[in-house]
Amino acid sequence: MKIIMLGAPGAGKGTQAKKIAEKYGIPHISTGDIFRANIKNGTKLGNKVKTYMDQGLLVPDELVCDLVVDRIQQADCAKGYILDGFPRTIPQAESLDAALKAAGESVDYAIDVNVPDENIVKRMGGRRACVGCGATYHLVYAPTKKEGICDACGGELILRDDDKPETVQKRLDVYHEQTQPLIDYYDKKGILKTVDGSMSMEDVFAAILGILEA
Ligand code: AP5
Ligand code: MG
Repeated sequence: MKIIMLGAPGAGKGTQAKKIAEKYGIPHISTGDIFRANIKNGTKLGNKVKTYMDQGLLVPDELVCDLVVDRIQQADCAKGYILDGFPRTIPQAESLDAALKAAGESVDYAIDVNVPDENIVKRMGGRRACVGCGATYHLVYAPTKKEGICDACGGELILRDDDKPETVQKRLDVYHEQTQPLIDYYDKKGILKTVDGSMSMEDVFAAILGILEA
C-alpha cells in the first residue's frame, strides 16, 4: 500500500501518518522529519535546507526528489509506505510518478487532510516537538504526562522554529500557492480521498481507516 498524505502545514499529516504506519506495519517517511534530523546532526544537507525551512519556504525540488526516490527503494518499503510532506509541488509529484512507473508501480491513495486556515494557526501555537526523538504533542489536544517532557524518550519539548505565528502564515501562503494544486493532480488520477481534518484525532483516523479498508 503506497499512500501520500496531503494537507496544509499543521493539518495533522504527521499525526495520522504515524498511526497508519503502525497499523499496517509500513514505514512513515516524512521529508520534514528527515530535514530536521539532518539539521540537528549538522550535515551538509541540513545546512542547505535550514534557511529555507526557518523562513517557511519550500526546500528546492532537487534537494528533495532524489532523497525520497532513494528512500522508497530501500528494503523496508517493499510492502508499501506512507509519504508525509512529499510531494509538495507538481514537479515533485511528476518525479515520484516517473520513478514508480519505471518500476511498474503507482501510488494507491492520496489522502487530503482538510483543515481551514484559521484552525491551523491555533493548532500550531500549541504544538510541541521533542528535541530528542521528534515526537509531536499539543499543549491542549495531545498533552504529555509531565509538562515539557517527552513521554517516549524523556527529551525536552520545544516550539518548532517554523511554528512562530508569522512563519506559520508564510507556510500557509506557500501551501496554497505551490502544494494545493496537487489536490487536482491526484483527483485527475482518480486516487484522491478527502477527510475532514478538523475532527478529533481519533475521528480523523477512523475516517482514514474507512477509506483504506473499503
Ligand atoms: P513538514 O515537517 O512537513 O511541515 P508541514 O507540512 O508544514 O507540516 P507539519 O509537520 O507542520 O504539520 P502536520 O500536518 O504534520 O501536523 P501535525 O500532525 O504535526 O515540513 C517542514 C518544512 O520542511 C517545510 O516548510 C519545508 O521548508 C521543508 N520541506 C519538507 N518537505 C518538503 C518538500 N517535499 N519539498 C520542499 N520542502 C519541504 O499536527 C499539528 C498539531 O496539531 C500537533 O500539535 C498535533 O498534536 C495537533 N493535531 C493533529 N491533529 C489534530 C486534531 N485532529 N485535532 C486537534 N489537534 C490536532
Ligand atoms: Mg508533520
